[in-house]
Amino acid sequence: MNTLIESTSDIMPLLNGAYFVAAILFIFSLIGLSKQESAEHGVWYGIVGMAIALVATVMNPSVSNIQMILIAMVIGGTIGTWFALRVEMTQMPELVAMLHSFVGLAAVAVGFNSFIEHEPMSGIMLNIHLVEVFLGVFIGAVTFTGSIVAFGKLRGILSSKSLMLPHRHKLNLLAGIVSFALMIYFVQQQGNMTALLIMAAIALVFGWHLVASIGGADMPVVVSMLNSYSGWAAAAAGFLLGNDLLIVTGALVGSSGAILSYIMCKAMNRSFISVIAGGFGTDVVVNSDQDYGEHVETNAEEVADMLVNAKSVIITPGYGMAVAQAQYPVYELTKNLRDKGIEVRFGIHPVAGRLPGHMNVLLAEAKVPYDIVLEMDELNDDFDETDVVLVIGANDTVNPAALDDPNSPIAGMPVLEVWNAKQVIAFKRSMNPGYAGVQNPLFFKDNTSMLFGDAKASVDNIVKAL
Ligand code: TAP
Repeated sequence: MNTLIESTSDIMPLLNGAYFVAAILFIFSLIGLSKQESAEHGVWYGIVGMAIALVATVMNPSVSNIQMILIAMVIGGTIGTWFALRVEMTQMPELVAMLHSFVGLAAVAVGFNSFIEHEPMSGIMLNIHLVEVFLGVFIGAVTFTGSIVAFGKLRGILSSKSLMLPHRHKLNLLAGIVSFALMIYFVQQQGNMTALLIMAAIALVFGWHLVASIGGADMPVVVSMLNSYSGWAAAAAGFLLGNDLLIVTGALVGSSGAILSYIMCKAMNRSFISVIAGGFGTDVVVNSDQDYGEHVETNAEEVADMLVNAKSVIITPGYGMAVAQAQYPVYELTKNLRDKGIEVRFGIHPVAGRLPGHMNVLLAEAKVPYDIVLEMDELNDDFDETDVVLVIGANDTVNPAALDDPNSPIAGMPVLEVWNAKQVIAFKRSMNPGYAGVQNPLFFKDNTSMLFGDAKASVDNIVKAL
């Protein structure tokens, strides 16, 4: 017994030191990830920090069932590696949403476990513990179902349109009030399993409804918001387990996710409160029967002619470029035009594609020079001096309805104002709407022509014609 106590006191400073180093590495990881050039280093800091954290946790003398933990790690690691090796870039947000749901579920399990089995305590300490249990289960359950709905919407299993239940905001408010009342009862009773179970059920439905009622175009904000929730759920689990590193890591994820959500809301002209409160204030009616007129089709040879006669060209890529993997022929096209003395620039919308920086990563992969890849704000005023705009697989991010139609689900979202150019070519396969599920009046404008087909094949054909 004495030997165990001695070895425990020997190893604890070492473990605390390891946790401290891991926490510092996580902070360096976030700093690295904030810039494209240092992102790879950022990832490595994170990997090393997590490896240290895992080893230190397993070596903790309070861990009794080390075999079970190792088996779980091998199974989890194998499944994680299998998925990570197979997942396409375009499926990344789905994977992230799924991983958030695991964090939520883990927080629920830790909450129930800490309620059923904890050190004897009384008075204020017991009350604090009960509040931690209650909040941990609540945040975890909301994160769990919210992330599953986000996964379903991103994967296309669930409709990306917002669910408009009657009195939906009152329902959300009611869920919040009932949960709060249950928490008071739970603490007064010095713990009550029925209250905890009822609250967990309410939180599961609440999380589901919260994300279901947010429309497709706001999904980027939802994913970063769930990222934040998953951080707070992990921090709550850290309090329950008395694990400082989990508290620090959870707080880092929670606060950075909240800051990212706020920045995204500002970039998309959305109210932060409105999005986190389940799309509050977005009660719009989509009129799918509206007649937009006729669209005009073109072909690769005509587009090649247009391009060689142009002085300035802007390319605005979107999700379709990623699906088609058209970035390589797009690079060829860019090089070809620049060799002919034509100015070519790229206009990147903050939420183009399916994850932040999606288009920048694809273009960098294809070796498109950084200095001609500009943010939306940097060139939005330049379209009226541009001869040709190539809209390659973008839709919602170039939709004029965001500015012209106050009833549109994407109303108020800043967009690339491509229609101000002399000629616009839209590359897509059909007249289907984009992710937000709304038709795009751009495709029916007099200066827009549609080039139908897979974006990669279309760009290849233009390069051949050039
Ligand atoms: P979207 O509005 O999603 O439109 C993509 C277009 O690409 C579609 O109209 C589709 O039309 C076309 N397309 C698909 N595959 C193609 C292919 N192989 N070849 C040619 N065209 C193809 O794209 P966007 O403008 O990039 O907007 C992004 C949307 O996703 C926004 O609503 C945004 O809020 C949302 N979102 C973004 C993120 C982040 S963080 N970026 C995360 C989640 C959701 P066809 O089917 O007719 O070909």
